[in-house]
Amino acid sequence: PRERGWLSDYIYLYKDFWVTSYVLTGIISFQKNFQAKDTDIILVTFPKSGTTWLKALVYSMVNRKIFSLDNTPLNATNVHDLVPFLESNIYRNGQNPGLSGIPSPRVFATHVPYPSLPESIKSTTCRIVYLCRNPFDNFISLWHFLMRARPKDLEPLSLEYCFDKFCTGACGFGPFWGHFLGFWNESLKNPNKVLFLMYEDMKMENKLQMKRLADFLGYPFSENEEKEGVIEEISKFCSIESMRDLQPNNSGNKVLERFDVASFFRKGEVGDWMNHLTPSMADRLKKVVEEKLGGSGLNLKLFG
Ligand code: A3P
Repeated sequence: PRERGWLSDYIYLYKDFWVTSYVLTGIISFQKNFQAKDTDIILVTFPKSGTTWLKALVYSMVNRKIFSLDNTPLNATNVHDLVPFLESNIYRNGQNPGLSGIPSPRVFATHVPYPSLPESIKSTTCRIVYLCRNPFDNFISLWHFLMRARPKDLEPLSLEYCFDKFCTGACGFGPFWGHFLGFWNESLKNPNKVLFLMYEDMKMENKLQMKRLADFLGYPFSENEEKEGVIEEISKFCSIESMRDLQPNNSGNKVLERFDVASFFRKGEVGDWMNHLTPSMADRLKKVVEEKLGGSGLNLKLFG
């Protein structure tokens, strides 16, 4: 099956999820060629659920003994270059670069759903961190992002049109429920392998979630670090207000050749969907969530 995508290309149903032709060859090369190491950290998200934030937090956390926040590479290089996407940066267009020169812990990101991850990610002791965002805000974020990137010679797609597609699952890496459930169920089965975080918890109780994250990754904060306020420093540095002001994040540079780097830092709030969805749209998505996620134990948080 094929559908009109939200940018200029088509999206295709590949196995059990939708992908654009732009990333499909990258996904296949990633599946075939990536060899995970036990010390790797793989960050997984559904697009627009806070990947940029998670990348900055994990990068800062695991490198905190090497770089202070004054001289972290995040001040000079955008975080998507420091923590690349496997399918759309590293293996893009089917390329297969050597990765053995990257110092450990290697931190990578991907949007590929659990069943389609390369076997070595599952069979080694590398860690998976999944960041989930409520699909209401996730959709609004996705729509803003893709309409900003959509070629100007094409008419913009309406919120209603994209919402309908999102509710049926037909958007890049959708359906969102399959994406969430793959990692949610895995995190229940194997909590030492998969840490399941929620964007909303990260906003409300950032320090607590950062401690969870650091413990899970094997980089716990010491008592001394806690006393010295290291967690708060990293948290503040990685906040949307601070990140969007960093030179590499407002330089006009492109990420993945088609997205303006500044477009990764929009509002960063919980509940923005209330400014955009009509009551009947919200009802429809609530029903999808109940039908698809009900009984899974995964409880989403919709309000700020
Ligand atoms: P909004 O469009 O709702 O503002 P991704 O990084 O997966 O592409 O997700 C982008 C979303 O995360 C955007 O959401 C963006 O504003 C938000 N975001 C980016 N950096 C953030 C940060 N440091 N803290 C919180 N949210 C952030």
